[in-house]
Amino acid sequence: MYSALRVLLPESSKNAYSYDVLFFSMLALSAIVVLGVFAVGTIFCIRYRRSRTDVSRTPRVSRNPVLEFSWTLIPFALFLGIYFWGADLYGKLYTPPADAQEVHVVAKQWMWKLQHPNGKREINQLHIPVGKPVLLTMTSEDVIHSFFVPEFRIKRDVVPGRYTQIWFQPTATGVYHLECAEYCGTSHARMRGKIIVMQPDQYADWMRQGETRNTLAQRGRKRFHEFGCTGCHGPKATVHAPSLHNLYGKAVPLADGSVVTADDAYIRDSILLPRKQIAAGYPPIMPSFAGQISEQAIIELIAFLKAGGPTPEESQ
Ligand code: CUA
Repeated sequence: MYSALRVLLPESSKNAYSYDVLFFSMLALSAIVVLGVFAVGTIFCIRYRRSRTDVSRTPRVSRNPVLEFSWTLIPFALFLGIYFWGADLYGKLYTPPADAQEVHVVAKQWMWKLQHPNGKREINQLHIPVGKPVLLTMTSEDVIHSFFVPEFRIKRDVVPGRYTQIWFQPTATGVYHLECAEYCGTSHARMRGKIIVMQPDQYADWMRQGETRNTLAQRGRKRFHEFGCTGCHGPKATVHAPSLHNLYGKAVPLADGSVVTADDAYIRDSILLPRKQIAAGYPPIMPSFAGQISEQAIIELIAFLKAGGPTPEESQ
């Protein structure tokens, strides 16, 4: 059965094999328990049926410590083992390697928009090189979707109003299925795409073709000026706002005494929900850009800040 599955649904990412081993071990363990209970039940029903008088029916056994301890402790050890095994794999599935190449995903009814750091955009398909880890940072423009690639054994919800991440490392070239695995309206079933895994040199060729005029970070710099961010976060600003130069990844002390890391989620919240986390020492005067700025523009602004953000002359 297992080899049939591998033919029907190949394991094409680094963690896919570990995932399958865990899944089939749990399936086998559950099957053993179910079949064992059914087998004993059936045998007893037949052997001790009322019409049989030739079997021994001793009085009810009220205590048998060895039996009781073993039927408690053995399953406990087995399932606790499954728990630690699963937790270990979960940690691996949700901890991307530091060198993973980032791709931004924006889902909407009913398509996938994918974007590479060099500015190249794709709809319903994603080109990536074989053997390199890829980190997806995902959000939705409307309802909850779910990014599902069966051959890679990855699936993660794509939720409006926040970023979720998942990573994978393809192990073989080819074309794989991308499906939406969360019912999201009329055309949910058609919200699908392809993951195209290429040899690194072919991938490099592909990357060089088409739209690569501006990287994400360069487009983010344009947005930074278009949205008037320099009005407060700029050198000539009369308003007292934090400098954004080299902010990304730094610790930011907040007015309430806590400290957050300036990551994608923090920057996103600062743009859309500026009252949520106020930087220590600054008045809460940043206006919310909710409803005025697209997910796309937020991704570009984050890429801009990640690349260093405004220069000291551009910032304050
Ligand atoms: Cu998107 Cu289902």
